[in-house]
Amino acid sequence: MSNACVVGLQWGDEGKGKVIDILTDEYDVIVRYQGGGNAGHTVVVSGEKFVLHLIPSGILHPEKKCVIGNGVALDPALFLEEVEELRKKDVSIKDNLFVSDRAHLVFPYHKLLDALSESDKGQDRIGTTGRGIGPCYADKMARIGIRVIELYHLEHLKRQIRRNVEEKNRLLQGLYDTAPLSWEEIYEEYVAYAKRLEPYVCDTVEYVNEAIKGSKRVLFEGAQGSLLDVDFGTYPFITSSNATACGAAPGAGVSPKQIHKIYGVMKAYTTRVGSGPFPTEAGGVLEEHLRLRGGEFGATTGRPRRCGWFDVVAVRHAATVNGVDETILTKLDVLDDQETLKICVGYKYNGKVHERFPPDLALLPQCEPVYEERPGWRQDTSCCTSIHKLPGEAVNYVRRLEELLGLKVTMVSVGPDRRQFIRIRSTIQKKPQRRRITIHE
Ligand code: IMP
Repeated sequence: MSNACVVGLQWGDEGKGKVIDILTDEYDVIVRYQGGGNAGHTVVVSGEKFVLHLIPSGILHPEKKCVIGNGVALDPALFLEEVEELRKKDVSIKDNLFVSDRAHLVFPYHKLLDALSESDKGQDRIGTTGRGIGPCYADKMARIGIRVIELYHLEHLKRQIRRNVEEKNRLLQGLYDTAPLSWEEIYEEYVAYAKRLEPYVCDTVEYVNEAIKGSKRVLFEGAQGSLLDVDFGTYPFITSSNATACGAAPGAGVSPKQIHKIYGVMKAYTTRVGSGPFPTEAGGVLEEHLRLRGGEFGATTGRPRRCGWFDVVAVRHAATVNGVDETILTKLDVLDDQETLKICVGYKYNGKVHERFPPDLALLPQCEPVYEERPGWRQDTSCCTSIHKLPGEAVNYVRRLEELLGLKVTMVSVGPDRRQFIRIRSTIQKKPQRRRITIHE
């Protein structure tokens, strides 16, 4: 049992970057398998902040290997920029970063169409990050996408870019009344990227499978969150990839049999950026307070995140589709000053309380959260290094979430720094007659 996958159990921004950074110690190879520049993983190391969009956070450990898998939508300009930024911060990048030759490339027309389609939708806009993710994956599925490997067959690349740009120009001019793009300029731009990308490009499917055969331990890194997953999220207010663990096998080119453990990361409250249903959204003073205390502003776009209470109904759904083995609770310290905490344990609609997350987008906005209230702890937890040092009410909050979700919480994060976390060994009594949960270090 050596390989694992880390996924977000809410609408993204659960703190996966920091969790992966901590877990990296136990793995040899870290593989990002979906999404693209829309992600923003933040890691703070000795007060220095790193925001990574494409490169796995494992890169901050020089002895580990990092892979951008075939399932990622690769924006080469962003990737190269990120490499430069890391180098400026003295992060070693040499024979430890690999980019899949099968990954699909994001082109300027993807970003432009992302923006135009959003503004065309008006009030119905998804609130995308504008990184061209949806249009890039749409081209992949429509079988007109261009992959990294094609950068190294220039005549073919030229034909593909020309065909795509001419097609997109018809859309840009006809539908959006916008100036056409020059395929020649795009071609030149991507030929230049090809040279700079070359040292990183390889057959990562072979690389990862060989690593597994050689008994290396692999950690698959999910981006965004399960409720943004194209199949299991709040469609159509989702991202265009499988952000659940289900995406790891096709996005990295490994057998599902090779993923032995699934870690689900969840924030002690809930946030969402962009449009779409959010039953526990707090609104008003509380939302503003959580946003400021939690620094809830998009790592990619800087947009303020919507904030609200922890939603057991939504997280349970996410945990089920992922087959989560254990959970990691982040940002517990953000709740330190709350007198009373609320946990959503059901949704009330059509006169009944439901415990299942409905797939019906017409229903979700009508769902009235049913809350259970818990006393807050009103103490600083950010310096706590063990479960025994956490205030009793904080431990009870964690225990209650375990009980409601039927899942172990094995780590609690109490601040942005790499060192601000508590490992917990938690045992849920499986026997139905004894539902008591014990937590000890
Ligand atoms: P896209 O992925 O840019 O197409 O955006 C689709 C939806 O997913 C929007 O609501 C975005 O705000 C959201 N989203 C995309 N990436 C992230 C992320 O890394 N964290 C949180 N939300 C995200």
